[in-house]
Amino acid sequence: MKSLLSTKELGKRELEHLLAKAQGFRKGSQKSIPKTVALVFTEASTRTSLSFQMAAQMLGMNCLSFSVESSSLKKGETLLDTLQTLEAIGVDATIIRTSEDWPSLNVDQETSMSLINAGSGHFEHPTQALLDAFTIKQYFADLNGLKVTIVGDVLHSRVARSNIDVLRKLGAVVSFSGPEEFADHSIEGVEWIDFDQAIQESDVIMMLRIQHERHSQGLSLSKEEYHNQYGLTLDRVQKMKPESIIMHPGPVNRDVEIADEVMSHPKSKILEQVKNGVYMRMAILELCLAGGSYGQLVSA
Ligand code: CP
Repeated sequence: MKSLLSTKELGKRELEHLLAKAQGFRKGSQKSIPKTVALVFTEASTRTSLSFQMAAQMLGMNCLSFSVESSSLKKGETLLDTLQTLEAIGVDATIIRTSEDWPSLNVDQETSMSLINAGSGHFEHPTQALLDAFTIKQYFADLNGLKVTIVGDVLHSRVARSNIDVLRKLGAVVSFSGPEEFADHSIEGVEWIDFDQAIQESDVIMMLRIQHERHSQGLSLSKEEYHNQYGLTLDRVQKMKPESIIMHPGPVNRDVEIADEVMSHPKSKILEQVKNGVYMRMAILELCLAGGSYGQLVSA
């Protein structure tokens, strides 16, 4: 596998391979891959950008910093011209975040280097879904039959779109919850359930950030109303099953989708997700850059 643009490119076997590789890196496996990667982020990021840089450094890769603000993108150079320039310089893989949906960019056919989607518009955030599945596996050995509820702004969430695909391929039963105005009925086969029912029944509650920057019109609820009706308050956490966990891809709007005091609750695995992002991104970089096909890697 050369590039990772969508979770749709991954079957259950590839997912299990990545989960096993990430676990190996978490346990201390080391690998040196003498390649050069660049990060092109035209939209803000903390977790994804820095954990990819950390993952590349831990694999002994050369990681080129690329500031959009001081690049020729600011002079009107296109993303395609930028990618072809990076390839000509000798970059082996570019990790890209854009506010546009990946398919509308039409750039992947025009370059032969590896491309990794680090979050694109409403489309997908495949590496987030993979690190989320990896985090869930730290607490539940088998995802088969596990009840996962994704709560909140599903309509504008690339994280929800990638997670539903990955988690269902691994056997989890995924539901959505939250206000009706955030429902995305184009996603087939997912039940939209009552939030307080989800709190009591789910093994994993995955809260989503309200994606204000992607809204075409304002939310009908105030922040306080949203928090009261759909926020993960301490009162609600106390009704969760003893072994259930709380996740959030970050960044968090504290006291909107999650109460401030719940952030540091033992059930909250939010910083664990960030930590696991480094190991999963090492596994992804290895899969895309260390030797070509998935079949070769498996038999190696
Ligand atoms: N989850 C996530 O993509 O976070 P960043 O925007 O900080 O990268």
